Amino acid sequence: MIETQNKFIELEHQYGAHNYHPLPVVLSRGEGVFVWDTEGKRYYDFLSAYSAVNQGHCHPKIIQALNDQAGQLTLTSRAFYNDKLGEYEQFITNYFGYDKVLPMNTGVEAVETALKLCRKWSYVKKGIPENQAQIVVVHGNFHGRTLGVISFSDDDDSRGDFGPYLPGFKVVPYNDMEAITNAIAGEHVAGVMVEPIQGEAGVIVPQDGYLKAIRAACDEHNVAFIADEVQTGIGRTGRILACDHEDVRPDILILGKALSGGVLPVSAVLADDEFMMCIEPGQHGSTFGGNPLACAVATAALEVIKDEQLAENAETLGQVFRKRLAAIDSDLVTAVRGKGLLNAIDIKPYGDGKTAWDVCLKLRDSGLLAKQTHTHTIRFAPPLVINGEQIQECANIIEQTILNLD
Ligand SMILES: Cc1ncc(COP(=O)(O)O)c(C=O)c1O
Repeated sequence: MIETQNKFIELEHQYGAHNYHPLPVVLSRGEGVFVWDTEGKRYYDFLSAYSAVNQGHCHPKIIQALNDQAGQLTLTSRAFYNDKLGEYEQFITNYFGYDKVLPMNTGVEAVETALKLCRKWSYVKKGIPENQAQIVVVHGNFHGRTLGVISFSDDDDSRGDFGPYLPGFKVVPYNDMEAITNAIAGEHVAGVMVEPIQGEAGVIVPQDGYLKAIRAACDEHNVAFIADEVQTGIGRTGRILACDHEDVRPDILILGKALSGGVLPVSAVLADDEFMMCIEPGQHGSTFGGNPLACAVATAALEVIKDEQLAENAETLGQVFRKRLAAIDSDLVTAVRGKGLLNAIDIKPYGDGKTAWDVCLKLRDSGLLAKQTHTHTIRFAPPLVINGEQIQECANIIEQTILNLD
């Protein structure tokens, strides 16, 4: 850690809420797969802002779209029409194959939107009695940190001392087909919401057929399948959507993060008219949702994913990377898992009670930034613009760092 960076860290510590525990490194520039600290030291970014920067830092096409639109019109609110929103809505609904989109800003807002949409549909269309709708969710879920969402979290840090909680959720074990299909068959179930791969929980990949089984149970019982692809979507796992691995189409699709390439908070909920037309004027909204700047940026960000074949790159290099991780000859690595370029390793405690956090500090010193999730897991999620040579270099850094742990 370089001394001169301390002043920036101290400022955040003194004037900002202590709701994060960042790795001590102060960044001031980013380009593609790289970020630089205030001293000019270069690092590979293996977090990509929790998969928001799939297209790489400051992608020129996205920044161009931002700049062009910023000088033209940034915000009208939805009190008036603008000349960007409709075109964006047409573009994104064609891109993902849904009738309609409801634009929001952050990931968790899109999750809340999806839950409202699901409840509304269940009363208006499915005929569940008033205030009786249940939504099935799974253990280990992470969908953000609003009051609604933490109401069904089982993470003590997110949830503790923030009650009372919102009712109407039934939590079942993740990756247990019987548990989830039985829950879907229960009384007054409106929907089921899962992450196709649990990112924050430590990149937990369910067994093959899990999503298909949920889809089939939802079809059988007229229950809405909600997929939270805020972290897994937009090329990250080697497909445009992680649900594509099982050819499963959710009824309600939640996107965020890489929808703007990490440039602005842009999120979206996509669904067909059956669901989306249950919402009427005044029943949901956001001042910034669907603003012209976001529309221009998101359109460019989605074009980059396809133009540069970033999902395909994630698929190919993900396989190379996992093979390299699995070959690390150290009994400190107890698991390697992931899909595409969303991967993680588990690290056994070592030395004098050292954990994944200490490994991340060593990786930082060797020029690679990653962050532990929970105590023993390190997630590796580089921008999808990384190339084969770079992935090998990064695998070397990770291997050497682990082999040299004391
Ligand atoms: C699966 C998932 N859903 C929702 C969110 C919340 O997104 P945001 O932090 O943009 O509100 C996250 C954030 O990590 C996430 O991983």
